[in-house]
Amino acid sequence: MINVAIIGAGNISPSHLNAYTQFPARCRVKAIVDIYPEKAARKKEQFALDCETLDSQPDGFPASDGAFLKTLQEAYDGIPDLKYTGHTGQIENVLDAIEGKTDLAVTCADGRNAVELITAIYKSGSSGRAVRLPLKKGDAFYTERGRGKMPRFHEKKYSVENLAEKNIIN
Ligand SMILES: NC(=O)c1ccc[n+]([C@@H]2O[C@H](COP(=O)([O-])OP(=O)(O)OC[C@H]3O[C@@H](n4cnc5c(N)ncnc54)[C@H](O)[C@@H]3O)[C@@H](O)[C@H]2O)c1
Repeated sequence: MINVAIIGAGNISPSHLNAYTQFPARCRVKAIVDIYPEKAARKKEQFALDCETLDSQPDGFPASDGAFLKTLQEAYDGIPDLKYTGHTGQIENVLDAIEGKTDLAVTCADGRNAVELITAIYKSGSSGRAVRLPLKKGDAFYTERGRGKMPRFHEKKYSVENLAEKNIIN
């Protein structure tokens, strides 16, 4: 059973709630979170859900909820420890895959996609513009030379002086 938390009980949330509730044997909505808890409560009622509704602060951090943290910790503690982790775990998986016992946990295509995503993040950060995927084969950012032409950093313009005030200073 897959547990789902909906973050943001706004306009699009009914579409998601409607979709999740079509698969009651496979997933269940455990929590709806919104900075306006009454919006989360309305969605819970509208969809007749047996779930928690949680408060979230405007900075995105959830308001402290000991009971929910306990649930999360118990779910985490219930996951069995892996026999191997890090490189040993990866290499064991590769050996298992070569011996035909399992599929690769991370394929070459996954690695290629990760490089593309990281490259796009650097490109967007350097240019200050949105970047569309997939990057083209000849993209300048795939080369050392192309990356070298971009600014290494931008002047800092925004800062948060006091988290309690939740103001971003321009
Ligand atoms: N409406 C669509 O058709 C549609 C389609 C695709 C993607 N999206 C994307 O989905 C997101 C939500 O869209 P929407 O139309 O529901 O927007 P919305 O403004 O109606 O709802 C956003 C909800 O998130 C809540 N919220 C804001 N900050 C929060 C925080 N820190 N923690 C928890 N909740 C917070 C708001 O109170 C609000 O209820 C947007 O990013 C939008 O671009 C929307």
